[in-house]
Amino acid sequence: MSEVLRVGIAGLGTVGAAVVRLLQTQAGDLAARTGRSIVVAGVSARDRKRDRGVDLSGVEWFDDPIALARSEKIDLFVELIGGDEGGARASVEAALKAGKSVATANKALLAKHGLELARLAESHHSALAFEASVAGGIPIVKTLREGLAGNSIARVYGILNGTCNYILSRMELEELSFAECLSEAQRLGYAEADPTFDIGGFDTAHKLAILASLAFGVKLDAEAISIEGIQDISLADLHAARELGYRVKLLGVAQRTPHGVEQRVHPTMVPLSSPIAQVMGVTNAVTVDADAVNELTLVGPGAGGMATASAVVADIADIARGIRSAPFGLPVDHLATAQKSPMQRHEGGYYIRLAARNHIGAAAAIATRMAERGISLESIVQRRGCAADDSVVPVVLVTYATTEASVREALAAIVADGHIAEKPQVIRIERE
Ligand code: HSE
Repeated sequence: MSEVLRVGIAGLGTVGAAVVRLLQTQAGDLAARTGRSIVVAGVSARDRKRDRGVDLSGVEWFDDPIALARSEKIDLFVELIGGDEGGARASVEAALKAGKSVATANKALLAKHGLELARLAESHHSALAFEASVAGGIPIVKTLREGLAGNSIARVYGILNGTCNYILSRMELEELSFAECLSEAQRLGYAEADPTFDIGGFDTAHKLAILASLAFGVKLDAEAISIEGIQDISLADLHAARELGYRVKLLGVAQRTPHGVEQRVHPTMVPLSSPIAQVMGVTNAVTVDADAVNELTLVGPGAGGMATASAVVADIADIARGIRSAPFGLPVDHLATAQKSPMQRHEGGYYIRLAARNHIGAAAAIATRMAERGISLESIVQRRGCAADDSVVPVVLVTYATTEASVREALAAIVADGHIAEKPQVIRIERE
């Protein structure tokens, strides 16, 4: 181990440039904290001429990130290219095979190839660090892996995508449409290059796979996650939620159940009084239910250059100190295979919004179909319809805890009865 830690950074977008800036401005404190000087020795990005507002004089430029990853001139490779294949995967593999440690913010790469990469790191006694991959500046990876090592975790859930939380918050507070809020999120640079990753719940799922592995000692398995996005959430749902004492959030939830670790991403009604309901805008939050600490919620910036760079630099500092934790808390061979817990078995409360045809007996028939499946109703509200003739009226039901299978069967029967005019809206309720 040389006295100086020589860092190579591939990808000089907002986060990459912020990492260079932090390493330069915090150089003195980082050296004092880690006992070593940390220098940027090489960088790689697509456009050499672009002004990134950072001083790269004296830093060697590599056109090829793989050449940087293998270079004898660096000890640690920082991957900020993004994407689960291509240059990101090839360069991380090349760095690990060359015996170098890696820090990355790449949740998609980890969700898909995290186990192979962790195995490579283990066999080469290198670090694979990824604090920045989940919830940006919130140190949730270290919290789960080191901070809560003495706990048994029952559930971890959170707002893991700033774009979705920004959209839902603005829709609710400013009465704006989904489309208006999405284009604003894109303009502000919160959304992924393809915003489907955000609004479809896939970005949250990548992050949840990492959290579930750390919390429950299971292998990352994005296929085990049930995923629904926020594209069908309407202002009507946000208003109804508020009236009922809830707020709608896109949550990633991993939970121990008798059937295995349930992993799910979906729009969720959370009680207005819960810490997570207070989290608005692009901010992220993660709540952990653990036996010794009870409940812990971490709130902070989930995206943005400096916040994400803060997490990357924390990993660089750990590596400078010589810390080589098992990436997912256990050696890869000790991680259990995640048993998939089908959503049909999910138990909880449900919000259901129906566009009911306004004829005698419709409300009674809806309630009967629910009762036939053993579903107990916590509330049932029917409003006047918007159509001039009141031919269709909104009916909002909230159930006590039941199973997803019961809800789906009851709704199938209600649809078959011909009592409703549109596809039912179903939002699961997550209680504290
Ligand atoms: N698109 C992501 C988000 C960026 O909105 O949270 C951080 O992963």
